[in-house]
Amino acid sequence: MNKTEKYQYLLPQIKELVKDEPDLIAKMANVAAILHTTFGFWWTGFYRVENTELVLGPFQGPIACIRIPFGRGVCGTAWEQGKTVIVPDVHKFAGHIACSPASNSEIVVPVFHNGTIIAVLDIDSTDYGTFNEIDQKYLEQIMLLMAEN
Ligand code: SME
Repeated sequence: MNKTEKYQYLLPQIKELVKDEPDLIAKMANVAAILHTTFGFWWTGFYRVENTELVLGPFQGPIACIRIPFGRGVCGTAWEQGKTVIVPDVHKFAGHIACSPASNSEIVVPVFHNGTIIAVLDIDSTDYGTFNEIDQKYLEQIMLLMAEN
């Protein structure tokens, strides 16, 4: 399966997983797990907005930094800009926070609820240039499904 086919295969499963479930942490845990196991990413998880910081939430992969200030790193930048950030080479992103030396590319997708960013989805890959507009399109759709019901 190519990337688009994988996302299309995942979408109905994720719809089922999040349907009628109000607990966002539980939904984040399962969404991180299904994305991580389907694509074999290096790190897949959430940071939740807590006042002026992002705080580590449910994830799959190695241990990660716990707190990221607003505007810092790729995650804090996506939060500050209010939009998805794709980084083909993290070593060229000024201010990148290296939780793991094995990570080479990254995508961060904001999670909106009622128009406000309440978390970000962060995915890291050991390959360069893993993420593109296909990932952005589907991951944004998945974040809407997860947080808006
Ligand atoms: N690289 C991220 C930090 C989180 S870890 O990758 C899990 C950043 O620059 O915000």
